[in-house]
Order: sequence, then structure tokens, then C-alpha cells
Amino acid sequence: MSKPIAVLVGSLRKESYNLKVAKVLALIAPNSLRLKIIEIGDLPLYNEDIDTQNPPASYTRFRQEIAACQGVIFVTPEYNRSLPAVIKNAIDVGSRPYGKSVWSKKPAAVISVSPGAIGGFGANHHLRQTLVFLDMPTLQQPEAYFGGVANAFDEQGNINEKSRSFLKQFIDAYAQWAQKIA
Ligand code: FNR
Repeated sequence: MSKPIAVLVGSLRKESYNLKVAKVLALIAPNSLRLKIIEIGDLPLYNEDIDTQNPPASYTRFRQEIAACQGVIFVTPEYNRSLPAVIKNAIDVGSRPYGKSVWSKKPAAVISVSPGAIGGFGANHHLRQTLVFLDMPTLQQPEAYFGGVANAFDEQGNINEKSRSFLKQFIDAYAQWAQKIA
């Protein structure tokens, strides 16, 4: 695929496990796939008044970056059994102005990442509900609930073999499937 695949990370924390997972995905992705982590932490909370009167430069930058990508991978923590506001805000920004959504038809995938045992299942599926409305075909299998992530990285930041192989299966499946959709 000539265009990059956008990666949205739903945590703004410097030492975020989700960010670490996103970076591993970028490293192990097959050659056909170029992953690009897109900044979402600078997007003001969506407000239609400021968008119509004087859209912030970050809204414009974000929309252009997503529009230039072939697909989107969401790497998200779970906050209170749902998706974090930062990722929902980015989705809302990209969905407007009305009729000019940057998401439509882009092949998506969701991986939820948590130190907890159920791997962010709630965030993963609440996010999927929104992707239906945005008309984004979404990878169904393998599902990717990355639980126990605190045990997956050593002190140097290296990921263990079992987790690496889990991520490899996920990203390879996305690459094959997204190629077909393209
Ligand atoms: C959490 N955390 C959390 N974990 C989980 O598995 N289910 C949940 O519902 C929640 N809820 C929750 C709410 C809020 C406000 C915070 C800050 C955290 C814990 C969360 O999984 C943990 O902090 C992760 O490390 C967050 O991901 P990053 O920042 O490491 O990428």
C-alpha cells in the first residue's frame, strides 16, 4: 500500500503501554504496511462553534493527516469500561464538518491494551460501535484484547516473545485484509 496507515493511541501518558504497543506494531508490520502514529493530544475538545467560526490549526492538521492515510488502527486503553475521551474526541473532530468525515470507508482495526485481565474488552467494543456509524469496515478476526500488558515488557522496554507473536498475528491479518479492501 502506498499510503500510510494511521495509528491512533488512546493514551497521552509518556510511559503509556498503549504507545509502546503501537511502536512495536510499527516495527513488526509487514513491508507492505507503513504505520504512522498521528498526534491527537493537541486537539481541543470538540466544539461546533469554534469549528465553524475559526477551526483550530490542530483540527485541520489532523483531518489532513487522516485523509492522507489508507486505513486506521486504534490502539486504546480502557477507561471505566469504555474508550478514553481523548480517542473519542479525535474521532469526533475527524467526523466533522458534516458530510466531510475523513473516516468513511477506511479499513480499521482495534486493539485494546490493559494491565487488567480482560484486556480492555469494554473499550474495544464501544469503539467498534462508533466505527459502524462512521462506515469504517473493521477487522473482525483475530480480535485483539491485550491483557496483562504490564508483564509483557522488560525494564529495557523489550516485549516478550509471546506478546510479540500475538501482535504479529494481528498486524499480518490486518495487512492481508486491508489489501483486499483496497
Ligand atoms: C483506568 N484503567 C482501567 N483499566 C481497565 O482495564 N479497565 C478500566 O475500566 C479502567 N479504567 C480506568 C480509568 C481511568 C480514568 C484510568 C486513568 C485508568 C487502568 C488503565 O488500564 C491503565 O492505567 C493503563 O496503563 C492505561 O493505559 P496506558 O496509559 O498505559 O497506555
